[in-house]
Amino acid sequence: MAHPLEQLRDHALREVESATDEQALEAARVKYLGRSGSVSTWGEQMKTLAKEEKPIVGKLLNEVRNAVTAAIESRAAQFRSQKESVGLAKIDISLPGTPSGYSGYSGYSGYSRTAGYSRTTESRGSFHPLTQILERSIEIFRRMGFALADGPDIEDEWHCFDALNTPPEHPARNEQDTFYLPDGRLLRTHTSTVQIRTMQSAPPPIRVIAPGAAYRRDELDATHSPQFHQIEGLYVDENVSVADLKGALEFFMRELFGSGTDVQFRPHYFPFTEPSLEVYVKSKALKKGEQWIEVAGSGVVHPAVFEAVNKARGDKAYDPEKWSGYAFGLGMDRLAMILFDIPDLRLFAQNDLRFLKQFA
Ligand code: DAH
Repeated sequence: MAHPLEQLRDHALREVESATDEQALEAARVKYLGRSGSVSTWGEQMKTLAKEEKPIVGKLLNEVRNAVTAAIESRAAQFRSQKESVGLAKIDISLPGTPSGYSGYSGYSGYSRTAGYSRTTESRGSFHPLTQILERSIEIFRRMGFALADGPDIEDEWHCFDALNTPPEHPARNEQDTFYLPDGRLLRTHTSTVQIRTMQSAPPPIRVIAPGAAYRRDELDATHSPQFHQIEGLYVDENVSVADLKGALEFFMRELFGSGTDVQFRPHYFPFTEPSLEVYVKSKALKKGEQWIEVAGSGVVHPAVFEAVNKARGDKAYDPEKWSGYAFGLGMDRLAMILFDIPDLRLFAQNDLRFLKQFA
């Protein structure tokens, strides 16, 4: 024979299960768990039980109370979700949505100058042309086995100049060219700083690209900006030569600008490479198809750079007798201007939707 408490539990569970609405469920809850409900009454009766019966009945009573409480909660949850789905069914999902740019407010005069642009047309977001170039470039370098590296925009002179074999009297270090902070640090004038940071933190072989911003005290005009963007590249391994550098950059340029792209390397001078080369491209696919355009600096890593890194590391990990490397710095703004035929660098920072929408 089941204990009367078990019978009570079975009744209660059946009643909860068959409750068809919230009122019926609430009635069942009051009947069993309410202050004068059956389960509570049993609790009262505990006092009258014999000493040895108390723990057994007490335990059973707890189980019954828990089972009934759980059943009521789960039935209540069922009612709630039924209600929600009824509510959702009332929403007509075939109704066209409100365009995301629409605010119903047309009083902002900033747009009235912009003939032909209406806030009521759909204004879905898209990536900035520089972001697009960056992503395309990273994807190409990834396929060539380059990993991503980065470093801070605020740098010290050692990472920006000394370690890159740039002597104190070099004009780039001049306050006319470089933004210095009051504490002597500076805004990096190129991303080549990341070459040093990468080699400090890991031994060779190294194959990284480091995209990021760089800063120079240039007057803002169509082709110069105090903030611009570069992709630095560094490859260090045994027997790396100019041929590897040329192969990698030619591959990159053809992937980016099309197979009909010609690449030219012209001798140049950078303190941190020897030999140093400037990289030019010409592509029939481009508007300025007949013109050589400079897009990067590059070269074979100067042994003095390896020595500076070794000194900072306190080892001989970058032994110039054993390791060699190439490096390059691509002008990203320049690449974007060429690829998208953008005449003026300032457009990148003006947030003009007429411009940005052309790259959506
Ligand atoms: N850092 C140079 C600049 O901003 C570009 C450059 C030249 C980077 C040669 C390199 C390199 O890595 O090897 O003008």
